[in-house]
Amino acid sequence: MSANTIADNRHRHNLEAMTEIWLFGYGSLLYKIDFPVLEQRKASVRHWVRRFWQGSHDHRGTPDAPGRVLTLVEEQGSLCQGLAFRVEPGVFEHLDHREKNGYLRHCATLLFADGEQTEGLLYVADENNAAWAGPASITRIARQIKASVGPSGRNEDYVLKLADALRAFDYEDEHVFSIERALLSE
Ligand code: BEZ
Repeated sequence: MSANTIADNRHRHNLEAMTEIWLFGYGSLLYKIDFPVLEQRKASVRHWVRRFWQGSHDHRGTPDAPGRVLTLVEEQGSLCQGLAFRVEPGVFEHLDHREKNGYLRHCATLLFADGEQTEGLLYVADENNAAWAGPASITRIARQIKASVGPSGRNEDYVLKLADALRAFDYEDEHVFSIERALLSE
């Protein structure tokens, strides 16, 4: 599959047919909200975990020296905490472009803190995309992140901003926080 997923995403969901569109954010969408939001709520998705397993050729690295950014990986029994944004369909033109380096939109059930739930969309990059970086030890991931920079800035700043955002929402994430600790201890 090509690393540019814009065309694939355009055909995946009939956004105009949806009465309400909820988007789940778990990564950069927690601290970089550069699109109009109608409503925002804390939310979680079951059976997914955040992992720095996606290569970044276009934001936090380059094709020759890719950085690492987040994707979601399926893990039965896990819960990933994030934010749900109610948005207009037009938002996806911008987001599909922003997240074109391997991410496809998927449907998922979003769980709100008050026990309500709704169907929503989230972006996942899996092992079938050309920018996939895959699993590695925390030390190796942190080293790659420390060494990477791209058009959107230092890869390290992505991790530090994300960790701050998770703390601001009172969310735990050992994978993210252990990479943050490794970066700060170097
Ligand atoms: C997110 O923050 O939800 C997100 C992460 C990577 C790609 C698209 C969205």
